[in-house]
Amino acid sequence: MSAQLTETLPATGPGLARAARILNEGGLVAFPTETVYGLGADATNDNAVARIYAAKGRPTFNPLIVHCADLDAVRELVQWNHLAQLAADAFWPGPLTLVLPMRIDTMISRLVTAGLDTIAVRMPAGETARALLRETGRPIAAPSANSSGRISPTRAGHVLDDLSGRIDAVLDGGPCPVGLESTILGLSGTPTLLRPGGVTRDALQEALGTRVAERHATDRISAPGQTRLHYAPRARVRLNATEFHDGEARLGFGDTECDLNLSPSEDLVEAAANLFEYLHRLDATGVEVIAISPIPHIDLGIAINDRLSRAAADR
Ligand code: TXA
Ligand code: MG
Repeated sequence: MSAQLTETLPATGPGLARAARILNEGGLVAFPTETVYGLGADATNDNAVARIYAAKGRPTFNPLIVHCADLDAVRELVQWNHLAQLAADAFWPGPLTLVLPMRIDTMISRLVTAGLDTIAVRMPAGETARALLRETGRPIAAPSANSSGRISPTRAGHVLDDLSGRIDAVLDGGPCPVGLESTILGLSGTPTLLRPGGVTRDALQEALGTRVAERHATDRISAPGQTRLHYAPRARVRLNATEFHDGEARLGFGDTECDLNLSPSEDLVEAAANLFEYLHRLDATGVEVIAISPIPHIDLGIAINDRLSRAAADR
């Protein structure tokens, strides 16, 4: 792809209209959702979807999530079922992605699903995302707007630092309130948690009235940031640091002395919202090691620890 200028667009009427036009003409636009910034392209346009993989340096066997404005749009893509309806009733719009069997008459580019016979779909809650989806009037494929293997962006500035010159525009809608990627729930067979995220497994089990299996590393369905080296800052990451060493950047949680604190009051929702922004900030100082306080392995802490363990994986 040739070098290009990346436009920064405001999340206002004219900015949204411009972003929608770029998408509808086959361009790439990064946009905020309630979870993280996504790198959007028209999911029905093979060329546009191929450009996503190129801009991210993403392996083409890793499929993309399709974002829709409403349930009618979702049901044109996938074979809907009762559990999907319960999940949608409880969590959509919101930070939950459903993996469902693909409809054979779908218009979606086969590059989106990377050859699988399922599609990951989600109806995001972020106002800017919703307005953009309404304005384009089509399904938008969007992975997180970062180079493959790097930390997901929760600010327009993160996107620009990483992808400027490789995408057409970024729609600046401010920071993402959830700060962690969506939970991915597989519903094409036994309900299975494919990636922990903004919605907890307990909340899913309650809404579905059934057990949600945990995914095992040996499972065949390859997907959710499952490569170990995902969400990695440049610095090395040291987990469960109960004390900090000289020269380390200190990312704390709870009542501790540190450089940045995910949540002094031990609020996991606040910690999730701050996680990627603080990792970006500490990484930008050029430090060699980021040491991170233990995070309780409950509720959103499970998704936080999932991302942290990948960030800390051996390189
Ligand atoms: O919160 C989010 O989900 C963000 C925002 C932008 O929506 N998106 C996001 O996309 O995190 P990405 O590409 O970084 O992660 C999507 C994950 C990938 O790891 C992919 O393997 C998995 O979803 N996935 C996509 N389609 C799938 C499918 N048909 N079956 C199983 N997993 C799938
Ligand atoms: Mg990602």
